Amino acid sequence: MKIGILTSGGDAPGMNAAIRAVVRKALYHDCQVYGIKKGFEGIISGEIIPMNSRSVGDILQRGGTILQSARSDEFMTSEGRRKAKQALSDLGINGLVVIGGGGSLQGAQVIANMGFQTVGIPATIDNDIGCTDYSIGFDTAVNTVLEAMNKIRDTAFSHNRVYVVEVMGKNSGFIAVAAGLTGGAEAILIPEISFDLDEICRQLHKHAQLGKAHSIILVAEGLYGDPKEIEESSGFKVGNYIRNQTGCDTRITVLGHIQRGGTPTFFDRKLGALMGAEAVELLINGATEKMVGFVGNRIQVCDIKTAIKTKKTIDYGELELSHIMAGL
Ligand code: F6P
Repeated sequence: MKIGILTSGGDAPGMNAAIRAVVRKALYHDCQVYGIKKGFEGIISGEIIPMNSRSVGDILQRGGTILQSARSDEFMTSEGRRKAKQALSDLGINGLVVIGGGGSLQGAQVIANMGFQTVGIPATIDNDIGCTDYSIGFDTAVNTVLEAMNKIRDTAFSHNRVYVVEVMGKNSGFIAVAAGLTGGAEAILIPEISFDLDEICRQLHKHAQLGKAHSIILVAEGLYGDPKEIEESSGFKVGNYIRNQTGCDTRITVLGHIQRGGTPTFFDRKLGALMGAEAVELLINGATEKMVGFVGNRIQVCDIKTAIKTKKTIDYGELELSHIMAGL
């Protein structure tokens, strides 16, 4: 079999572990492997390179993706797709592993519909993919947020300040809820649930009077709509409101892309290894249109279509628990 592999959409720590697993498991089964650079764009532009065992040496500890990533506009057009089909056929690639988030899985579905055996691996720090408890990159991103919160808490305490910290997640609050519960945020604001900023202001004010004068409010970037479209970032909007309403000394920190980088954690490397290996097994056993998920501490395979249409919901119990723990 000739297996192509690509990473697409926003990069995520642990993608390299998945690439390594796909390459080495495929070679173990005597398959040929081709690395496609810059996501779906690379199929069209022909940036496709043969890979061997050495191509994936020393990459486990590296964040990002050695294959690089892109969001391809041309692949969205019928002409772009025609070219992609031609390029894959010319090289004789008959199996494809697509590593990425929701948009990438949709691309994988398109390739599968062209008649190439295709398997998807969920990789996005947002963790918003259905049919899997975790996607590659989420754990590392949450740990990065926790590290930042620890540092911010030091200075928040020293100066008796309120810190509003904005985290990524696109239009979901998975990062905010996970980091808020484990980092001890005093409040967590996410797009999935309505919130009362005035009530939060009243609580902050009341607790400042009772002697608790420093707090961290975690805000998901998508709180007020698509982060790429809103004029003022959600963090700034919340922070400015709190400052004006409470008079508390308030600072705003937008963590941004530092959440996407860094050496992957044990868990993201484990996901990469298990999911990558399973993707190859599926291909050599003739499967297509599948996504490799991780549910209840085990690999679980589902249809890509089902993963795309399943809306993943945050854990409301965890959110409730973090509010109780906050002690505001
Ligand atoms: O999907 C991952 C993600 O980091 C989101 O959390 C964020 O909204 C978006 O990508 C940022 O995209 P870009 O890197 O294109 O600015």
